Amino acid sequence: TGAFTFDPGFTSTASCESAITYIDGDKGVLLHRGYPIEQLAEKSSFMEVAYLLTEGELPSAEELKRFEYTISRHTMVHEQLLQFFRGFRRDAHPMAIMCGVVGALSAFYHDSTDVDDPKQRMIASNRLIAKMPTIAAMAYKYSVGQPFVYPDNSLSYTGNFLKMTFGVPAEPYVVDPVIERAMDRIFILHADHEQNASTSTVRLAGSSGANPFACMAAGIACLWGPAHGGANEAALNMLREIGRPERIPEYIARAKDKDDPFRLMGFGHRVYKNYDPRATVMQQTAKEVLEKLGVSDPVFDVARELEQIALKDEYFVSKKLYPNVDFYSGIILSAIGFPTSMFTVLFALARTVGWVAQWNEMIGDPEQKIGRPRQLYTGAAQRDYVDIAKR
Ligand code: CMC
Repeated sequence: TGAFTFDPGFTSTASCESAITYIDGDKGVLLHRGYPIEQLAEKSSFMEVAYLLTEGELPSAEELKRFEYTISRHTMVHEQLLQFFRGFRRDAHPMAIMCGVVGALSAFYHDSTDVDDPKQRMIASNRLIAKMPTIAAMAYKYSVGQPFVYPDNSLSYTGNFLKMTFGVPAEPYVVDPVIERAMDRIFILHADHEQNASTSTVRLAGSSGANPFACMAAGIACLWGPAHGGANEAALNMLREIGRPERIPEYIARAKDKDDPFRLMGFGHRVYKNYDPRATVMQQTAKEVLEKLGVSDPVFDVARELEQIALKDEYFVSKKLYPNVDFYSGIILSAIGFPTSMFTVLFALARTVGWVAQWNEMIGDPEQKIGRPRQLYTGAAQRDYVDIAKR
C-alpha cells in the first residue's frame, strides 16, 4: 500500500535532521559544528572535538578541564569484564572482541540505560567515550598475550591509551609526544562523519529505545566491514601486497576490470566526489610521523605513487574516485606499532564520540520515531499451503 521512494543503499535519502556534521562532497568540505576539519586537526585535541561534537560548542578552558576530568573518572572497566575477555580465542580478531565486549557493557550499567533521561544518557555517553580506549587496549593486549595495563589518569586521553596498549608492567612507559599528537589527530579525523553506515546503524538500533551500549556494539559490527571502517586494514594489506611501485599498474588494471571484484581499498567514497579532506591531513601526517620517527616505509612511496597514477587515470577521474580517510591512516598506525588487525578498532574508538553525539541528538529530538524503512516486495504472490506429502 502507498507509494514509496525506492532508494537502495540510501543514496538520496535524508534519514534525519542533524546539527552536528556537514559534508559538501563535491567540494571536499567537512565541518563539525561549523568548524573545518583541517583547523580542528591542526589546532584542537580529540577531547576538545569530543566536547564540541557532543555539546555543540567548543569548550572554554575550564569546561574542557572539567570534561577531561569527568572522562578520566570512567576509564576503568569492571574487573569481571576481564573474564569476559578471557573467554575469547587468543587469535580472535580484535573487532570480534570489540563487538562482544562493548555489547556486554549493557549488562554492567543498569543505572545508565533509561534513554529518556538526559542525565543517564550523558553518563552512558561518558562511560562509552572513557572506556573505549581501555577496551581497545585490552583487545590488543589479549591478542599478544601480555597483561592488561590499567588506565593512568595522570596522562592525556590519548597518552593513557598508548600506555595501556604499548606499556608493560615490567618497565616505566614514557609517552612519545610525536606519537601522542599523531594518534590524537587520527582520532580527530575519525570522530564523526554524519550519517555513514555505522552511525545510521547506531541511530536505527537506538530508535527503538534499546540499551546504548548494545547500540554501540551494533555500530562496531557495521564499521567492521571492508567497505566502511575495515578499509584501513584492507588498504594497508593491499599496499603491502603491491610492495613495489613497479607492480602498481597491475593492481590499477585489476581495479578497472569489471570481471574482477578487486577494488582499490582506501579509494572512493559515497559522498566525496573530490579529495576527502581527511585524506589530505592524513597524508601530511604520515609524512611528518615517518620523518620524525625516522621510519622509512616503502609502503608510503607505493601509496603516493598509486595515488598519483590513479588520479591521472581516466577510470578513476570519470568515476570521481579519490583517496579517502583510510588510504594513508594505516601507514601511520603501522609506524606507531599497531598490527593491521587493530586499525579498525582505533576507528571504532574515535567514532564512538560521533556515535554517542548522534544517538543523543536522535533521542532528544521530539520528532524522533522508530526507524522503519519500507520495501518493494518482489516475492511470490499469495498462494495456498501445499501439504508436505504433495510437494
Ligand atoms: N576501486 C575501483 N573501483 C571503484 C572503487 C574502488 N575503490 N570504488 C568505487 N568504484 C567504482 C565501482 O565499481 C562503480 O563502478 P560502476 O559504476 O562502473 O559500477 C563506481 O565506482 C561507483 O561505486 P559504488 O560502489 O556504486 O559506490 P558507493 O558509493 O556505493 O561505494 C565505497 C562507496 C566507499 C563503498 C566504494 O568506493 C568502495 O568500495 N571503496 C573501497 C573501500 C573503501 O575504501 N572504503 C572506505 C570508505 S571511506 C571511510 C569509511 O567509511 O571507512
